[in-house]
Amino acid sequence: MIHLGVNIDHVATVRQARKACEPDPVMAAHLAELGGAQGITVHLRQDRRHIQDRDVRLLRETVQGVLNLEMAVGEDILGLALELLPDQVCLVPEHRQEITTEGGLKVARDDRDLADCIVKLKDSGVLVSLFIEPDPPTVRLARELGADAVELHTGSWANAWAQCRGDEHDGDLITQLARLEDSADAAATAGIRLHAGHGITYGNVRSLLHLPLLRELNIGHSIVSRAVLLGMERAVRDMRGLMDLGAG
Ligand code: PXP
Repeated sequence: MIHLGVNIDHVATVRQARKACEPDPVMAAHLAELGGAQGITVHLRQDRRHIQDRDVRLLRETVQGVLNLEMAVGEDILGLALELLPDQVCLVPEHRQEITTEGGLKVARDDRDLADCIVKLKDSGVLVSLFIEPDPPTVRLARELGADAVELHTGSWANAWAQCRGDEHDGDLITQLARLEDSADAAATAGIRLHAGHGITYGNVRSLLHLPLLRELNIGHSIVSRAVLLGMERAVRDMRGLMDLGAG
């Protein structure tokens, strides 16, 4: 079975819009697991724009499945990761002005910071994944650097899918899918785990499931968006019910 990691960052985005207590991503994680998620994914950004340290600490105690922490290579967050020991860390690039993670990690053979980060996490028993563009040489380099897994950035493929609405004869979609398939083959040959994520929706997810030895999909925006809409009727009904009871 392909493992579903639910990214709950945007539950925290709504909370941080008011700097309030709700909605609590810890409760969202619990409900996501009840819904069948095998894991919970959070990105602790350097600017703490959504997920907070407190969330990761509580999630470490409460998540029953796999806790996957996305983070940039950097001393401060690495320190927290080594203290909290999530089951898995996905190393991602991070730029302050970006709306979401744009592009994959730049992986270079002589990047000592990246190599040290991988070693420290692995020595602490944390499974390490690198979020990369779908590119076979980068998959092989990730393996050489000792990563346990690569998470292929599916953003370009998802954009192509949205442009042509999944028309399998569309040239750009064919190109983007081939990049993912070639990278999946490279991962299988290199003996590194294959994960994928970014821009996956209820509409496009089935077009990815044939990737060989795909172990994990991380999906956030689309699931949180659906959760907001599906819960709206019930939430309004509950408020209406309280108002209809009259003054207490
Ligand atoms: N995987 C990684 C490494 C990400 O950075 C993100 C976005 O935070 C996702 C998966 C989930 O992407 P989306 O929110 O588009 O489903």
